[in-house]
Amino acid sequence: MFPNRRIFHRAVSLCGAALLGLCGAALPAQPVAAPAPERQAQIAHWLRDDCGACHGMTLKGGLGLPLTREALAGKPPDFLVQTVLHGRAGTAMPPWEPFLTESEVRWLIQQLQAGTPPAVPPNGFVPAP
Ligand code: HEC
Repeated sequence: MFPNRRIFHRAVSLCGAALLGLCGAALPAQPVAAPAPERQAQIAHWLRDDCGACHGMTLKGGLGLPLTREALAGKPPDFLVQTVLHGRAGTAMPPWEPFLTESEVRWLIQQLQAGTPPAVPPNGFVPAP
């Protein structure tokens, strides 16, 4: 089938690369770097007071869909990140791009999907708006 060893080796390494690509696609996304603690506190405030206004303070849903680990299970992170950044046309979900960077939203979605939403710090620290 292979005229010489070199072509055989090339075929083997190409198959290897294709397999790696497939495995890579199936693996979960790499964890996203967490924002600095003060920024996490800011995001936690928004999550409770702003997102919570529609999604419920305990994120179990209201006007907006629940944002619990169970409710978000199996939903592609990219799709959820796009929803938060750009909102969802025709629904009450507003775009958050003016306030949150893409990597902050990736981190937030990662925390929500893991069931560990950032909590407002107990010391009452309220970050400057
Ligand atoms: C004014 C109300 C409102 C606010 C504020 C709001 N949302 Fe939403 N959100 C919605 C609605 C309504 C939907 C459902 C849209 C639909 O029907 O597809 C939604 C959908 C979503 C979804 C997609 C859920 C899914 O299962 O597909 C995510 C994730 C989300 N919101 C996150 C957030 C986050 C994070 C914030 C705060 C930074 C936020 N939302 C603030 C109303 C809101």
